[in-house]
Amino acid sequence: MLTRLLRTYTRPYMGTIIVVLAITIFQTWINLQLPSLNADLINQGVALGDSEYVFQVGSQMLALSVVLVAVSVVAVYLASKVAMSIARDMRNDVFDKVLRLSPYEMDLFGTPSLITRNTNDVQQVQLLLTVGLTMLASAPITVIGGVIMAIHHNAKLSILIAVAVPLMAGVIGVVMTKAVPEFRKVQKRIDRINGVFREQITGMRVIRAFVRDDFEKNRFAQANASLMMTQLGINRLFAFAMPGLILILNLASVGVVWFGGHLVDNNEMQIGDLTAFISYLMQILGSVMMATMMLILIPRAAASAERINEVLDHELVIHDPEDPQPQGPVGRVRFDNVTYFYPGAEVAVLRNLSFQLVPGQLTAVVGSTGSGKTTLVNLLMRFVDATEGTVYINETDVKQQNVDDVWGAVGLVPQRPYLFQGTVRETIQFGRDISDEDIWAALEIAQAADFIRELPEGLDAHVAQGGSNFSGGQRQRLAIARAIARKTSIYVFDDSFSALDASTDARLRSALIAHTREATVLLVAQRISSVINAERIIVLDDGHIVGMGTHHELLQTCATYQEIVASQQTAEALS
Ligand SMILES: Nc1ncnc2c1ncn2[C@@H]1O[C@H](COP(=O)(O)OP(=O)(O)OP(=O)(O)O)[C@@H](O)[C@H]1O
Ligand SMILES: [Mg+2]
Repeated sequence: MLTRLLRTYTRPYMGTIIVVLAITIFQTWINLQLPSLNADLINQGVALGDSEYVFQVGSQMLALSVVLVAVSVVAVYLASKVAMSIARDMRNDVFDKVLRLSPYEMDLFGTPSLITRNTNDVQQVQLLLTVGLTMLASAPITVIGGVIMAIHHNAKLSILIAVAVPLMAGVIGVVMTKAVPEFRKVQKRIDRINGVFREQITGMRVIRAFVRDDFEKNRFAQANASLMMTQLGINRLFAFAMPGLILILNLASVGVVWFGGHLVDNNEMQIGDLTAFISYLMQILGSVMMATMMLILIPRAAASAERINEVLDHELVIHDPEDPQPQGPVGRVRFDNVTYFYPGAEVAVLRNLSFQLVPGQLTAVVGSTGSGKTTLVNLLMRFVDATEGTVYINETDVKQQNVDDVWGAVGLVPQRPYLFQGTVRETIQFGRDISDEDIWAALEIAQAADFIRELPEGLDAHVAQGGSNFSGGQRQRLAIARAIARKTSIYVFDDSFSALDASTDARLRSALIAHTREATVLLVAQRISSVINAERIIVLDDGHIVGMGTHHELLQTCATYQEIVASQQTAEALS
């Protein structure tokens, strides 16, 4: 998983990566030279009292050290840059994928998990890359080069290295096998915290209204504590491992001084070689420890990579066809015997729906709550795919068109419209280039012009996230204006007038009818008064079409429609 992800994403940066590797190899090579030069300096300079030689070798070492610092800076800079660029690319790709998920797939992953995946998980991979790129080449070269140099200075003492390195490797191996599953747990726990936290922020008012602060506090505390316990467990593992590794390192250097001291005493080794040997030992074991640091990052990054890949590899349910078909004449919608089951559901929410929408006609859909109206809209928009039957937009099967073509053909006001943060102008434009004149025209139709005009900043007034600084009815009207400003040939309003009072509703509808004379309009509503003028009304009951016709026809023929009308008349009489 991790290697596949890295292979894909490192490809565009191969040039820089090779430069980084080349620099680290060069850097490691300098590092390996220094102790040997130092040995020469001691053996042939200090021991023989040749101060000129000391100065000469000393300045050589100084020059190498300066170069070493310079190239290290460049290597770290380049490595970080590559790692950050790769993280950016991954986040972009995950985001693109998430934009294409259907509501059902969104639930499958869960919003908080998608957020964690695209932030924290990507960061884990980035961290591994930053550290890995600078250490990847240097650690093995230091170990191998160090061993060769050490043997060169004294073969007998090198036995100590042969003992210390496998010991360290053993300790590391044990820690790793225990840590990997724990790291996977940590990411899950972070998901959980994000989930609880997000829900609590969203539902803040409900929590207060029901005085559920303590209950919710407790729920968060539990999620929080479980993350802490998992992390604590991992740290405990490393708390044992680190001192163990340092102990091995120190015992090895004590061993070298002890046995090396005897060798020097017996004139079997020069003092300079002993110092060089100790330096190499430190370099080798230091590299092993550094590599461990890097290896610690691998299981966590691997767990994260798996989670990122799950999103990237996810086969989209709603996707572009291989051979997309162009749309026919605009403004046409046709449902041909459409049946839809929610994933896993035993009963169909919509069964055998057949109807047509044509330009210049206003069609309304009425039905009690839960009768499947929004589901019908979702099918029309291809947010979900019909289980059986076919939905045609502009005389082409929606599954045979590019998804953007379908979405682009319809101006939708969803039942729960979401307003994005920005100004009123940006809200209506929504990424397109729309003149102020057209914006005002759209606001005028949506009956939103009055209250926007009253704002001191007018079109520059601020819209908070979700439109929370506007009332429910104002939000609905802004969402309607946003859809109207798109100037599509098909408009769909899903219960978009529910928060409006009767007179605003009436004014909006007549302005809308005047504006959309040429267009195809589907209007989902609860109130009969909202649909009374529609050229055609579709009555939905429990997923079936039980009536279709004008208000007057349905009053004669459709029992369900009569019931709805009767119930609303009673309500009106009471009010
Ligand atoms: N994501 C989903 N997964 C499973 N079942 C769902 C899902 N969304 C809706 N349903 C079910 O489908 C049925 C129809 O829902 P739908 O939202 O289409 O009703 P509606 O007519 O728009 O209702 P309302 O007037 O309240 O908006 C409901 O009974 C609901 O339980
Ligand atoms: Mg609905």
